[in-house]
Amino acid sequence: AWLDVPQQVSTGALPGWDRVEEIVREAHSRFSAERGGRVADYIPVLAEADPDLFGLAVIEVGGGLHDAGDARHPFSIQSISKMFVYALAIREHGHERVRDIVGVNNTGLAFNSVVALELNDGHPMNPMVNAGAIATTALMPGSTTAEQWERVREGLSAFAGRSLSLDGVVYASEAATNERNRALGWLLRSYGRLSGDPDEVVDVYTRQCALSVTAHDLAVMGATLADGGVNPVTGERVVSAEVCRDTLAVVASTGLYERSGDWLFEIGLPAKSGVAGGIVAVAPGKGAVAGFSPPLDDAGNSVRSQMAIGYLSRALGLNLF
Ligand code: DON
Repeated sequence: AWLDVPQQVSTGALPGWDRVEEIVREAHSRFSAERGGRVADYIPVLAEADPDLFGLAVIEVGGGLHDAGDARHPFSIQSISKMFVYALAIREHGHERVRDIVGVNNTGLAFNSVVALELNDGHPMNPMVNAGAIATTALMPGSTTAEQWERVREGLSAFAGRSLSLDGVVYASEAATNERNRALGWLLRSYGRLSGDPDEVVDVYTRQCALSVTAHDLAVMGATLADGGVNPVTGERVVSAEVCRDTLAVVASTGLYERSGDWLFEIGLPAKSGVAGGIVAVAPGKGAVAGFSPPLDDAGNSVRSQMAIGYLSRALGLNLF
């Protein structure tokens, strides 16, 4: 009851919005020579990514769109899907139920850790690590996994404001090599924390990770969360303001895995990464900033996207604190 007080969602233009276009271009040229990090190779096809690709996009809640570099180059969304599937799961089942099943605390361990699950009595801890994301995908409505997958694809498309489709090559590459995720699915099941066939749930999860997006799409998707659940480009309400708040709170503490604390301390925004090199950071009431650059740090977060988004957060005054 002590939390039974309405919260307001503040909205407004980005500070310095009249210079956003110029600032995004500045960020792009500032980091274009950066060569740190290594392209992911545990999913074979990702090892073929061009490390020089680099795109940035900023979308304002007022609808302003600003792209630089390879902002329209397609890549697989990977773990960034977890943030949006989590929002859809809360929309469907509510705050308490999803919190009980999936959790909201950082594991402090790698995104695909088996030890984290064993240490916590099979509880996945949070929806951004693979185990928690698999448990979250299992909550998608639908009487068959094909229906669940379609709900995920449609839901993420509404966030993006366009119909997203599967990258079949990435899906096939990951499906042929995802023994560890299947092990996580079966381990969840052994602890009684997953109903249904783990291999089928993991298959839907693998598909969601192989959805093809661009940095521009990620910025629109993030801006929908920044805008209290309304897509600022299409005007469609995708989720409620409460769902956005729940999602962004979890992403702030877990979105960059074991680096989430460093990121929040330095940059002060919820952000979610994927192993194909995408990152999207969300500034509630203001907009979203997305980056794409394939080389990663050892936690699986794009090095150049972190630098450019960090720079943009500072330059645009986006730090929440
Ligand atoms: O399940 C996996 O390992 C990948 N489909 C996604 C991992 C990922 O993107 C981690 N994030 N940085």
